[in-house]
Amino acid sequence: KKPLIISTDPGIDDAVALTISLFAKELDVKLIAATWGNVSLEKTLNNTLKLETFLGTKVPVVSGAKLPLVKKPIDASEVHGKSGMDGFDFPEPDKGLLVSGLAATKIHEVVANSPEKVTLMQIGPATDFALYFRQYPDDLEKIEELVIMGGAIGRGNYGPYDEYNVSGDPEAAKIVFESGVKIRVAPLELGHQAFVKQDTMDIVRNYGKNGDMLYSILSNLHDGTLTDGLEIYDALAVGMLLAPDMYTFKPAFVAIDTNDSYTYGASVMDFDNFFGKPANAEIGVAIDREQFVNWFAKVLKEADK
Ligand code: BDR
Ligand code: CA
Repeated sequence: KKPLIISTDPGIDDAVALTISLFAKELDVKLIAATWGNVSLEKTLNNTLKLETFLGTKVPVVSGAKLPLVKKPIDASEVHGKSGMDGFDFPEPDKGLLVSGLAATKIHEVVANSPEKVTLMQIGPATDFALYFRQYPDDLEKIEELVIMGGAIGRGNYGPYDEYNVSGDPEAAKIVFESGVKIRVAPLELGHQAFVKQDTMDIVRNYGKNGDMLYSILSNLHDGTLTDGLEIYDALAVGMLLAPDMYTFKPAFVAIDTNDSYTYGASVMDFDNFFGKPANAEIGVAIDREQFVNWFAKVLKEADK
């Protein structure tokens, strides 16, 4: 089993990615760091605990960053609901899962105590991993890789050229991409292919109580319609760990624009070596939608066994 640490901002698609990760037999989730992101830290932390309490899983949760490193925080509650995970009546969160201390320190402790290299997954803003890489540079050799949902090859979803997770904390994203750690990225464009519709969610809903919960929160996203297809962005990061064959990867040098400009928060992905810099990431440039949907339905079955 791959030891895994997740940085997340639940977030409805985060909840899907977390559920897949927590029940995947190939993965051993060691720690979840909840960061500010889709909504405030207070809410994402609460959502993480609520989700785990409902699922009955016992992975320790640490409170991550409350704010981006430099930029003012942004908010996506118009997409994910006021709580950040609207649409289902979750039980009261089990606060016993919460571990005290700084996220960077807790991440370091897990990595330092692991006999094997640890994989990292980032499905929210980069703040926590940036702080971690800055504080514990010697850990790099013990990191297997970092999989990220974030950035865009072309147009953005938060600004003309910026994707939400990178735009949320561009300075942190820059630190992460410059860290030297092995990185694989699921950019926004991949998300546009990774959508599920009513038929798939009907299957998932019938698996059992966990599938039913995911059905409820996903039907709440984007005005409650599954008719046109709902993009499950964050599941693409865990998909890279569980089913890498679904993706086509291309190496690129990724630069993050941290200038005070109209493209502040853009991820500039140089596939053609215009900048003469070595690639710092493998970018998922394509995914087969049929394969994604079949994989999605298959992995969620595990969650209700
Ligand atoms: C990303 O932004 C968030 O709203 C989602 O949870 C996902 O991580 C997509 O741009
Ligand atoms: Ca997210």
